[in-house]
Amino acid sequence: MTNMTPVTKGAPADKPAVKAMPDAQTVTSVEHWTDRLFSFRVTRPASLRFRSGEFVMIGLMGDADPKTGKQKPILRAYSIASPAWDEEMEFYSIKVPDGPLTSRLQHIKPGDEIILRPKPVGTLVHDALLPGKRLWFFATGTGFAPFASLLREPQTYEDYDEIVITHTCREAGELTYGAKLIDSLKDDELLNEVIGEGFWKKIKYYPTTTREESAKMGRITDLMRSGEAFADLGVEPLNPETDRAMICGNLAFNLELKEMLDGYGLEEGANSKPAQYVVEKAFLD
Ligand code: A2P
Repeated sequence: MTNMTPVTKGAPADKPAVKAMPDAQTVTSVEHWTDRLFSFRVTRPASLRFRSGEFVMIGLMGDADPKTGKQKPILRAYSIASPAWDEEMEFYSIKVPDGPLTSRLQHIKPGDEIILRPKPVGTLVHDALLPGKRLWFFATGTGFAPFASLLREPQTYEDYDEIVITHTCREAGELTYGAKLIDSLKDDELLNEVIGEGFWKKIKYYPTTTREESAKMGRITDLMRSGEAFADLGVEPLNPETDRAMICGNLAFNLELKEMLDGYGLEEGANSKPAQYVVEKAFLD
């Protein structure tokens, strides 16, 4: 943890001491992808260890209570979008105009501080899956974030022969963060060195949109039901012997896909009981 010690900034005798924000981390960069989406990087607490795919609580200090003058932090669960080996931490967020946190978080700039509680948890981790041959990442919207971490994690390519990433968004611009990240993997020094040149050929990327024209239109669930997704990808429908999956999207999507995976004969796993697929809800506020 950082900045846990209350700091007195030369407070005058008649005013209470100003406390430094607990668990503060400094913003190092911010990128806005659309009017609804942005990503940012912050410093990483020196002692923080996490597994690629996990999430932490992050946020900002709320306004002072007019009566008591006390400030409470506004915290939300955010998947860590950077891999476990990265010296900084990356997050990918939606901007909700009236959202208690994101209405303010979207305005952060390098040098600003955010709160980051150093207690990573989550089920979208390799440990929660039994060994398999093909790994599916199913995302909608900002649900891509944990996969941005896992796609940069060497274990993903060590453990699997093939990685299929599907990403369904409303509009084409919402795919850009993921598309750019996947494209950048080809030049990822660590992965090329550890896994070997051409490791990225294991990735099959399947982006789709539902409300704006793009190369592939439709919800991934419908495209799988009709068989179109499997035909496009040149792979067989999921098989519990070989296929493993991680799901991260909005609630309706998670539930629908979960039912489909159960239908293919896959079983839901957890850290305490690894199985064939795992689910996590994407942050929305
Ligand atoms: P749609 O536009 O048909 O609702 P959101 O931004 O609302 O979280 O949605 C992100 C993407 O997830 C959208 O493309 C949306 O499609 C899609 N989606 C929403 N619900 C489901 C579902 N039950 N199954 C598959 N895709 C879904």
